[in-house]
Amino acid sequence: MRKIIINGGKPLSGEVAVSGAKNSVVALIPAIILADDIVTLDGVPAISDVDSLIDIMVSMGAKVNRDGETLEIDPRGVKDVPMPYGKINSLRASYYFYGSLLGRFGQAVVGLPGGCDLGPRPIDLHLKAFEAMGASISYEGESMRLATDGEPIHGAHIYMDTVSVGATINTMIAAAKAKGRTVIENAAREPEIIDVATLLNNMGAHIRGAGTDVIVIEGVETLHGTRHQVIPDRIEAGTYIAMAAAVGQGIRVTNVLYEHLESYIAKLEEMGVRMTVEEDSIFVEAQENLKAVSVKTSPYPGFATDLQQPITPLLLTAQGRGAIVDTIYEKRVNHVPEMARMGADISVVGSQIVYNGPNQLSGAQVKATDLRAGAALVIAGLMAQGKTEITNIEFILRGYSNIIEKLTALGADIQLVEE
Ligand code: EPZ
Repeated sequence: MRKIIINGGKPLSGEVAVSGAKNSVVALIPAIILADDIVTLDGVPAISDVDSLIDIMVSMGAKVNRDGETLEIDPRGVKDVPMPYGKINSLRASYYFYGSLLGRFGQAVVGLPGGCDLGPRPIDLHLKAFEAMGASISYEGESMRLATDGEPIHGAHIYMDTVSVGATINTMIAAAKAKGRTVIENAAREPEIIDVATLLNNMGAHIRGAGTDVIVIEGVETLHGTRHQVIPDRIEAGTYIAMAAAVGQGIRVTNVLYEHLESYIAKLEEMGVRMTVEEDSIFVEAQENLKAVSVKTSPYPGFATDLQQPITPLLLTAQGRGAIVDTIYEKRVNHVPEMARMGADISVVGSQIVYNGPNQLSGAQVKATDLRAGAALVIAGLMAQGKTEITNIEFILRGYSNIIEKLTALGADIQLVEE
């Protein structure tokens, strides 16, 4: 078991570069199965989800060359075989293989997806879309078989009952080579959806409306190779901006697309955080006398559910009371008792997280319960007086590339140790 040890209370300064978006690249890699030539991705983050997806692709017959942040994938050797169960349930985003295998072979046998414990995470909207496109679904033990009995999948008019990033992307991937037109209504609008549509269109697909709530896909016969730059990770950016405001003495967060973070920046400004938005970076000054605010998450372009945990340590430094409501994952509260162990005045009351500040945190032994909860605990550890030990840190390494190196470069006393 590995853990992170932080000796907190140190002022941090300097520059930290944001890497490529996890929630884009975990869809881009499976989507490459649709191509009939080599596809190269630049700006691929060094996170364990990428390692897992590469293992799965190679086990299916793809050739993969990784050189730093560049990933060259030749999908021509991919066989239509049952997915290797072991890796499949290590990350929820493995469900994107449903769409790409259906799109290429007209069938898919895959393990049911895994992922963080954020409460119920159904995939009914994904399956509803695939059935509308002609796939039948059956279960074989821990696996699920999607099949079209020889017919290629066909376009369909799909209305998403809930705004879903995964179901929107998965449908888009399956529709790229389906026969005819697919319309997705009430589509999610996240930037990662635009990034996947950009890759597919550069491979020869005909996708219009990505980033709006109606996406139209005209299926094509073949998709060729291309080269694609992964967009910056807006959630990693938001995490480092909150950290910079909580413990920084002047930190520049670089490789940031401001327009992906507008609602988040607005909330920070409401607190009184002083920032300078530059061309592709944000400079965060040292802060004092921040004001407690309330947060309510909603689908993009609203306040991202993935940032309600990372912003919490910063909220705890502010003056006054506030409440946090996650309308997307009501149970995304497992970080709260861990922060309370560090002395924070924070608790879950019904469907809200309520806090009262300011708080001077003390180091403690805490555990990461999911990816963004883990990131929040790292920030809390940097703020706290004394030593914090965080276990279950594999969650953190799934989504934050080189986090130890990045924080050490800012002056943090942080280590990753084998227990
Ligand atoms: C993506 O998850 C992200 N993961 C999540 O980030 C992010 O929190 C979430 O979108 C935000 O919407 C990846 O992109 C890999 P959803 P996803 O489908 O696609 C319900 C992180 O920390 N729903 O948009 O799985 C669902 O229960 C991760 O990086 C259905 O009801 O989320 C939720 O309440 C955590 N049926 C809502 O929709 C379905 O078939 C939004 O989920 C699918 C989803």
